[in-house]
Amino acid sequence: MEFILKAMAHKRIKVINIAGARPNFIKIAPLVKEMEKAGIEQMLVHTGQHYDNKMSKLFFDDLHLPKPDINLGVGSGSHAEQTGEIMKRAETVFIKEKPDLVLVVGDVNSTLACALTASKLGIRVAHVEAGLRSFDRSMPEEINRILTDAISDYLFVSEESGVVNLRNEGITKEKIFFVGNTMIDTLLQHKANARVISPLNGIYLKRQPYAVLTLHRPNNVDNKNNLKNILETLLEISFDMPIIFPVHPRTLEQIKNFGFENLLSDILGGIKAGIYRVEPLGYLKFLNLMMNAKMVFTDSGGIQEETTVLGIPCITLRENTERPVTLTSGTNVLVGINRDKIIRETRKRLNGFKSDKQIPKFWDGKAAKRIVKILIKQLSG
Ligand code: UD1
Ligand code: UDP
Repeated sequence: MEFILKAMAHKRIKVINIAGARPNFIKIAPLVKEMEKAGIEQMLVHTGQHYDNKMSKLFFDDLHLPKPDINLGVGSGSHAEQTGEIMKRAETVFIKEKPDLVLVVGDVNSTLACALTASKLGIRVAHVEAGLRSFDRSMPEEINRILTDAISDYLFVSEESGVVNLRNEGITKEKIFFVGNTMIDTLLQHKANARVISPLNGIYLKRQPYAVLTLHRPNNVDNKNNLKNILETLLEISFDMPIIFPVHPRTLEQIKNFGFENLLSDILGGIKAGIYRVEPLGYLKFLNLMMNAKMVFTDSGGIQEETTVLGIPCITLRENTERPVTLTSGTNVLVGINRDKIIRETRKRLNGFKSDKQIPKFWDGKAAKRIVKILIKQLSG
């Protein structure tokens, strides 16, 4: 409160918040709300990186996000096309609007493109979810993370490993703020609402144990052998518990290209053994699906964190993670795409194995509050 009054007394702060892809909407929602409460002048700019209703609008509805003030409408493309196009269009907006700060979240192309554009215009940049590192530069997100952090003025870190990584890269400690996780703010805010909805329109899943699957990492879904290996292994597991698979658009395209549709089932009435494909789900429905699942198979970043807080076992189909706290304090295990390892770790959990779960520090629903308080102090000085 003291800081808020101070900010009012100094000058009005103007912030442009950037969101472009599904996980961005979830991470930015609590920040938009906290900024509104603090009386910060803000604009929400959607880059248009994700544009299908099921990858974008559904999240604005579920999370009560205001309609974006501007949609740059860039759509899909190669990395250079998408990043370059966002930069060109964002530059026009930033020059016209003259914000005091551009705030970016996560590690997608929209994150880097807007951070770089703002930084070159001399506008200060805040990066929320700074410092995460998989140490795997074949992941496009790792390049986005390293570059965004290198040019950001305020680095808001979600887990302790982020502080260590940033310090190791020579970033001064004055720029680094360990504040917690805004994706978990959103989860805690919406858990009760998610509990009472039906995720799959009429299919009553609680009667039987089931697992959830999400996949979209290029290394898993753009490589024919890797995708085949994952789907065939999970099909085997589905005889122990059916698997519900909300399919990301990148993955759907590849399943069709590689002719793997025969490995999947459609929900027609009830579910038994099989991998059941459904369209990408809105936030509340997906949260409900996770909360009631026996376990989750994924290569998502955010889902590793959400399952840790929900206490649902997470079997991550990757060799590394930029979120190591989910392994040390959470319910996550890395299995890569090795059939035997996937089956071994799954069986362990089906037979009752539980990790000693602890909620990571500051994953308490107050990260956005901390960030806004710090920004007001920094920007109104
Ligand atoms: C992007 C991010 C990734 C993040 C993921 C979240 C980058 C480099 N990647 O991956 O870090 O984990 O979002 O979901 O920023 N498509 C549609 N409709 C849409 C969006 C995409 O059909 O609304 C299809 C298009 O064919 C597109 C493909 O999905 O070419 C990939 O989309 P893109 O945004 O480039 O990457 P994602 O795989 O979604
Ligand atoms: N999610 C969702 N519906 C789905 C799949 C995922 O709402 O069908 C949510 C999930 O709960 C998490 C976020 O989307 O909050 C993760 O996004 P994604 O896996 O696309 O990206 P990543 O976290 O890997 O960058």
